[in-house]
Parts: sequence; C-alpha cells; structure tokens
Amino acid sequence: MNTDLATDQPHTSRVYDYFLGGKDNYEADRQAAEEILKVWPDIRVAARVNRQFMQRSTRFLAESGIRQFLDIGTGIPTEPNLHQIAQATAPDAKVVYVDNDPLVLAHARAYMTGTELGATTYIYGDVTDPGSILKPPELSDFLDLSQPVGLSMIALLHFVEADVPAILSAFLDALAPGSYLAICTITADFAPDAVLRAQDVYRVRNLPAQVRTRDEVTSWFAGLELLDPGVVPPHRWRAGETTDFSPSFDAKVSCYSGVARKP
Ligand SMILES: C[S@@+](CC[C@H](N)C(=O)[O-])C[C@H]1O[C@@H](n2cnc3c(N)ncnc32)[C@H](O)[C@@H]1O
Repeated sequence: MNTDLATDQPHTSRVYDYFLGGKDNYEADRQAAEEILKVWPDIRVAARVNRQFMQRSTRFLAESGIRQFLDIGTGIPTEPNLHQIAQATAPDAKVVYVDNDPLVLAHARAYMTGTELGATTYIYGDVTDPGSILKPPELSDFLDLSQPVGLSMIALLHFVEADVPAILSAFLDALAPGSYLAICTITADFAPDAVLRAQDVYRVRNLPAQVRTRDEVTSWFAGLELLDPGVVPPHRWRAGETTDFSPSFDAKVSCYSGVARKP
C-alpha cells in the first residue's frame, strides 16, 4: 500500500475538495483546480449537483430497502457523508468506503464513524483492480454478499480510462440479485469546448480523465434494470434541490447519472 501523500502532485480527491470549498487540499491541487476553473468555470456547480445526486440516490436506495452500501471513490469527507444519509433512513445500514488516495484513508479513519446500530469501514483500494477490493476478508467480513448491496461510483468513472464495462461486471457479478448500481460521471455532450479543455488540464498533470457520451454511460447499465428517468444529468434524476432545467444548466453540470437494479 502506497501511503505517501505526495502533496507536490495534484490528486483528484483534493482538487474536488477545493471545488467544494473544503480545506483538505494543497498548493499543487489548488493550482490544478484554478487551471480547470479557467476553462470550465462552472465545474463547482457540477461538483455541488453531483454531491446532491449522491445524497438523493443513497436516500433512494435506503428507502428501497438496501442496508449495505459499497461506495467506491468516496472522496475526502464532506458532510453529509454517504453513511450519514443512509443511516438517517436506515440506522442499521453498513457502509464500506473505498478510495485510492492515502489522504482519504487518513481522514476516513478519523471521521467515518458509524451509529450504534450501523457501521462503516474503509478499504484502501483501486477500482481498476476489482479483485483487490472484492477479495476476502475485508469486504466479505463486513458485508453479507448473499444480500443486496448498493454499489455507488459517484464522480469516479471519469477518472478511469480503463475498460469500465469489465470493471462493472467484476463488481456486479460479486453482488446478489436486488443490488443496485448508482453512477454519476462527466460528459462533454453539453459543453464540449469547456469540458474537453478541462480533461486536457487533468491529463497534462498526469491525472487520468475520460469523458463519456450518453450512449456509453447507458451501455454501462446493460443487463440491469435501469430505473426511471434513465441516464440523465444528475439534477434531472428524480426531484431534487435544483429547479433550473434549462439547457444552459445541463451544460454547467455536464454529468450523466443513473441508477439500476440487478435482476
Ligand atoms: C471527485 S471525487 C468524488 C467523491 C464522492 N464520490 C462524491 O461524489 O462526492 C473522486 C474520488 O475518487 C477517487 N479515485 C480516483 N481514482 C480512483 C481509483 N482508480 N480507485 C479508487 N478511487 C479513485 C479519488 O481519490 C477521489 O476521492
């Protein structure tokens, strides 16, 4: 396990923390973030709306009976965190957090405590190596994999250039029928100039970045029951905080989201 914080290099978690107004970022992250803001000034709107989707989709899963959550690409703690949302509806909910940033690991230990009934744990792992996350005992000791799990990958897969369908299959194959998959990821469909320039800024700094089209994101849910309203920008996924449904707001958000159930 590489636990070097490497603060001289930007990290996607810390750049995102800067966008959300957090304090867990370093000079290299702030410089990268400012470069991204120059080309995509609305990325802060995207981060906020994405975070709201995380909350809404988690609440939906808890209300649908899910009591076990696997959240990959957790990020630096930002209240309310996923376990707080899940446990507000289902106090006995268990949450496994996974991230590959050692800084998230350090914070996760300090902040992510469970309720009396529920519990949280943390696995330092890389989504591009599903076996490292799925292998016993960490995950299977904590979650009962014979029961449904809510798998969330929120604002994660645009940092994955590898074969996303293969990664998703590996995780979904390990999960019981009745499990859910919730995704939110960046697209250049609405504002190609700004978003593709932002993608370049990430790549120049050796951060993986890959935007996706609606068709690509839709294909990730193949074999699952995609819930209404399908693959849509996150503020359009069921009733939420946003009341602006104009094309210009879709362009500001420039993400696709979706939730599906494993039959
Ligand atoms: C933009 S943040 C999203 C945080 C949170 N899910 C949310 O939506 O607010 C992306 C997170 O994914 C993590 N990440 C990036 N690539 C990863 C990988 N290959 N495996 C696991 N985590 C990764 C980053 O460290 C970061 O914490």
